[in-house]
Amino acid sequence: KEVRVFAPATVANVAVGFDILGFAINRPGDEIVARLNPDITGLKIVAITGTGDKILPTEVLENTAGVAAYTLLKHLGKEDLGIELEVHKKMPFGSGLGSSAASAAGAVVAVNELLGAPLSRESLLYFSVLGEEVADGSFHADNVAPSLVGGITLIRSNESLDIHHLPVPQNLQVAVVHPDIEILTRDARAVLSDTISLKKAIRQTGSLASFITALYTNDLPLLGRSLEDHIVEPQRKQLIKGFDDVKKAALECGALGCSISGAGPSVFALCDSGYLAQAAGQGMQEAFALHGVNSQLYVSPI
Ligand code: HSE
Repeated sequence: KEVRVFAPATVANVAVGFDILGFAINRPGDEIVARLNPDITGLKIVAITGTGDKILPTEVLENTAGVAAYTLLKHLGKEDLGIELEVHKKMPFGSGLGSSAASAAGAVVAVNELLGAPLSRESLLYFSVLGEEVADGSFHADNVAPSLVGGITLIRSNESLDIHHLPVPQNLQVAVVHPDIEILTRDARAVLSDTISLKKAIRQTGSLASFITALYTNDLPLLGRSLEDHIVEPQRKQLIKGFDDVKKAALECGALGCSISGAGPSVFALCDSGYLAQAAGQGMQEAFALHGVNSQLYVSPI
């Protein structure tokens, strides 16, 4: 028996919810294959493709997908079952698109399906977050949750993994531009200050609360006004060459708002039609090009 799953890329933080908000896009995404093999004992990673010149560990307990799948199997008391895992990477590392989260989410879904789906999608979350933690050193679910369950997710608590689906307004589209720059999440987390001023906390709380109100009321102009990151974007944007011009280009092309996708360097712009998302994406790519940076554009409904 063999199961093949697609795990989508995700945009985490979404400007207003550092470590607590994320949404899935329809491409790119990783493909994970899990296969029963009665001739082996335990989980083995038998293939990793699409990593370019990077080498990912095939040792189960050093690999994001491996740790996620193994901890799930152990929880189910099936860690000795012979299972082969293939990891086919379809997106770059250090892209801000939740690459390691997609591998972790895909691995648990594939293994769970292989075993006849004993656990619900939501209860697979813990194992996938453990897997992602191997890659970026911190336990947060804002990429893994939307990759696993789709849509826009809010994480009330990363400790108890209390996650909630948020409504998606009609016609909401995103342009995600991935510039040819690599930023590792742990490095992008290292530039962040541990403290923020009360004034910034108030502004950010206002942005987050109005963003969520806009999702519930289908109010896209409010959503646009809400998409302001007062805390993280100002600290991280210097890691992304040309960021201010790219953001300006997105807004000039009619995007509702624009910010850094996850830990960067990808930049996303939310738009109220596919046409505008395509235009904003192209505008952002041109702005990157003026800074000598090549990029890749993905346009997706949310
Ligand atoms: N919330 C995380 C961050 C997402 O911005 O560091 C990347 O893993």
